[in-house]
Parts: sequence; structure tokens; C-alpha cells
Amino acid sequence: MRAVAVAPGKVILYGEHFVVYNVPAIVMAIDRVVKVSVSPREDGSLRICSDLGFACEYSDGDVKPIMGGKKAVTFLEPVRIAARTVLEYFNEKKGLSIDVHSAIPSSVGLGSSGAISVATVAAVSKVLGHEISKEQVWRLSLRAERYVHVTPSGIDPLVSTYGGLLVWRIQDGTKPKKINRDIEIVVGNTGIQRSTGKFVSMVGRKKTKKIEGISQLMGVMSWISNLALKAFKEMDIVTLGALMNMNHELLRIIGVSNESLDRLVEATRKAGALGSKLTGGGGGGCMISLTTLSKRAAVCKAIKENGGQPMIVRKNNAGVKAWLVKN
Ligand code: PMV
Repeated sequence: MRAVAVAPGKVILYGEHFVVYNVPAIVMAIDRVVKVSVSPREDGSLRICSDLGFACEYSDGDVKPIMGGKKAVTFLEPVRIAARTVLEYFNEKKGLSIDVHSAIPSSVGLGSSGAISVATVAAVSKVLGHEISKEQVWRLSLRAERYVHVTPSGIDPLVSTYGGLLVWRIQDGTKPKKINRDIEIVVGNTGIQRSTGKFVSMVGRKKTKKIEGISQLMGVMSWISNLALKAFKEMDIVTLGALMNMNHELLRIIGVSNESLDRLVEATRKAGALGSKLTGGGGGGCMISLTTLSKRAAVCKAIKENGGQPMIVRKNNAGVKAWLVKN
């Protein structure tokens, strides 16, 4: 018997980085998922393998890379932490084989690590025979998320767990509000991989030293998110686009954009996007455009012509799902 879990990636529409400081953010789960498959092992050891070419075996406190060398140890660490957290939570000592398949490009702001942690927690619980709520899945995935993002808000695993289009701030905990709307989003991937944790820490240092007026900008970002929520209610996509443009400027001020992102943002606006901004941790990774159907092809073309990779994404409503499979 093995357990399989799938969990979606995400795009942050409004409020990345600011959400770490309890500012409301709006986020959408996307139709790109990770799949984690877990089966019990007789020898008591833990084996983790990713389709990105990494594999490690863990036994008696030792780790042995089987594929991908030292990089495999770092890459698979969040998966190990997520699996260990569940084993400890249920006081189980079983050995496990974990296989990770991801259709979400990694380290580009689309929430692949959050989705992997969430799917791992759900699949490990399932194979151990424990039914857990979405609330527990999210809480148990936070330890792995902390390893990746240092001081995360928890929004990535949250949207991966619950799915949908959500408005959320830290103080809402496991009670995000769903927004029942659909919008046309095109992602532009600069292809530059970077560490979100590094950028979260940099913003934290600037905030502590009170540089670039970051504390004041928190108020501006709250205002943008709240106006976006109102615009969603009225389905005022022109305002939603304008608010995305404003959000991008705030992200530029706090120093998390770069030339490649700015180029794609600029080009997509010229091609007819209603609004464009970077999404996720910044410093590379992805940007998003809010478009109409009639402008979608032109926006994709502008992304390609400016060195990016376009990706049309749709909303994933289900969030994490786990089930048992007979071998
Ligand atoms: O780069 P991503 O997809 O992991 O996005 C992280 C979002 C941040 O707001 C930058 C960090 C967080 O934990 O909220």
C-alpha cells in the first residue's frame, strides 16, 4: 500500500513580503501541482527521491546522497523535515520511501517548496493511517517552510493546502477568506532561480534599520490589498490591474525587483496587460500579468520577446488531496 498526495503551487497577486508583517495578501492556487508518493519501508530508514535528479537515504542520524551529490542533501531537506515532523507528531518510528514529482518550476516564486511540504505531510499521514484536517496539514508543514524561507508568513503552504483565491493575513491563521472569482493570469518566468529566504531576510534587515520607509509602506500595501478585495467584489478588472502596477512599485522600492523582472513588467503593460508585477520573493523568478482574453496572446508574445517564458495559469480550487493506492 502507498499513499499519494497532490498539492498546487501559487501566484501572489498582491502583498508578498509585506504579508510577513501581517499585511493582508491576495493569493491564488494554480493548476501546476506536485505529486508526492509515500510507501512504508521494512528496514526503518528514510529514502527520498525527486524527479529533478536528487535522492538521499537517511538512517541512524546519517545522510547518504544517492543521486545529485551534496546539492541533493540541501534540496531534499524540507521534504525530510516535513516527513520527520509527521512521524514525530504521531509518535511513529516507521521507515518510508518518498518520491517527489513536480510540475512547478523550483525557486522562481511559484510556491514549489510549500507545495512539496504540504503534499509530503498529507501523504505521510495517509500512509501511516492517520486522517488529518487541512488545518493540521498547514501547521505541520510550517517547520519545513521555516527551513526554506527563514521567517515565512506561511502563505505558500496555506494556499497549497486550501486551494482557491484567498485573502489572508498572518493573524487569520487557518481562516483565510475565499474570493469566488476567476481572472486571466499569465506568468512570465525570467528563468533566474534565487532564494526567497535571502530576500525575506534582506527586507527584514531594512525594516529593523527603518530604511526606505518600509514601515510606512506597510500601510500603503494594506490599502492596496483592501482596495483589490473591493475591486474583486465588483469585478473591476481595470482597478485590479492598476493596483498590481502600484504593488510592483512598492516591491521595487523595498529592493526585491531586478532588471529582468522590470523588463517583463514593462513589456507586458505595453502589450496590453491591465497590470503587471513581480510575484513571490523577487530577485528573479516570475512576474504576473492580469490580462483580458483578447490581449493574452500579445502578453505571452511580449514575455517571450523579452527573454522570459510565458505560462497561462488557471485557478486550482481543490488544494491538497491525498489517497491510498494498492501497489
Ligand atoms: O518566492 P515564494 O514563492 O516562495 O514566495 C514567498 C512569499 C513571501 O511573501 C516573499 C515570503 C512569505 O513567506 O510570505
